[in-house]
Amino acid sequence: MWEYTDIVKEHFLNPKNVGEMKDASCVGEVGSIACGDALKLFLKIEDGIIRDASFQTFGCASAIASSSALTELVKGKTVDEAMKITNKDIAAALGGLPKEKMHCSVMGEEALEAAIKSYRGEDVGSHEHSEGEIVCECFGVTDEQILHAVRENDLKTIEDVTYYTKAGGGCAKCHEKIEALIAQARGEAAPTPAPAPKKLSNLQRMKLIEEVLEKEIRPRLQLDGGDIELADIDGLTVVVNLRGRCTGCPASQATVQGTVQGILREKVDPEIVVREA
Ligand code: FES
Repeated sequence: MWEYTDIVKEHFLNPKNVGEMKDASCVGEVGSIACGDALKLFLKIEDGIIRDASFQTFGCASAIASSSALTELVKGKTVDEAMKITNKDIAAALGGLPKEKMHCSVMGEEALEAAIKSYRGEDVGSHEHSEGEIVCECFGVTDEQILHAVRENDLKTIEDVTYYTKAGGGCAKCHEKIEALIAQARGEAAPTPAPAPKKLSNLQRMKLIEEVLEKEIRPRLQLDGGDIELADIDGLTVVVNLRGRCTGCPASQATVQGTVQGILREKVDPEIVVREA
C-alpha cells in the first residue's frame, strides 16, 4: 500500500472546495474516466485575482487530495501567479506524494493550465489531452505532455514517465517512443532499439509469462486497485482471472487485450493471445 502523508490523508478524508461552481469564470477539464482519472477545476476570477476555486474529480485518494490542495493553493493568487504553479508545488503542499502517484499532481497542473487558458480565450484542445500528438494510446498522453513532465521533474526512465503521466503503463507499445522523448528532453542521443528476442522453448516461454505477469503486469494493475492471476497457459494462449477493481470493470476487455496481451506480446512472444477464464 502507498505511504501517504498526514496532509494527504486530511485532504482525502475532508477535501476542501468540492463540487461544481455555477458562476465560475472558467473551467479546466483533464483526463478521462476511461483512463482511470479525470479532474474538472472551476475558478472564479475577479480583477485578475482568483477569488474562489472548486473541483470535481474521478480518481484515487491522491487525485482527490491533489485537487483539494490545488484549490487552496490558487485562492487569492493572481492569474499570472497561478499560471506558475507546477505539479511539484501541488505535491509539496501535500508534504509529498508516493512517486507512483505523481500523475495526480500533474493532472492538477494541467487542469489549472487548461482553466487559465480558457479564461484568457486561448485554445485548450480536447479535455482528454493537451496539444501535441498522442504517443500513448492507452492513456491518451501526448508527446508535449511527456516532454513537459520529463523537463519539469528531471525524469530519466520509462517507469518515471509512467508514474508522472501514466503513459507507458498499459500495453507497452509506446515504450520506444517514450524512450526517444526522454532522450530528446534531456538532450541525449536516442537509444538504439533492442534486438529481436530469440525463440523460446515451451518451458522457457511459460516461465517468462509467469515472470512478466508477476513483476510487470500485476504492479501496474495494482496501481489502480486491480490485480490479475494466471489461470492457465496452453501454447500461445494465456488464460487469466482479473481481481480487485478490475473485476467487472467495463474496461476489463481493454485491460486483457490491450495492457496484458500487449505487454506479453512485447516481452515474451508477438503471437500470444490472452483471454479471461
Ligand atoms: S500505448 Fe502506451 S501503454 Fe499502450
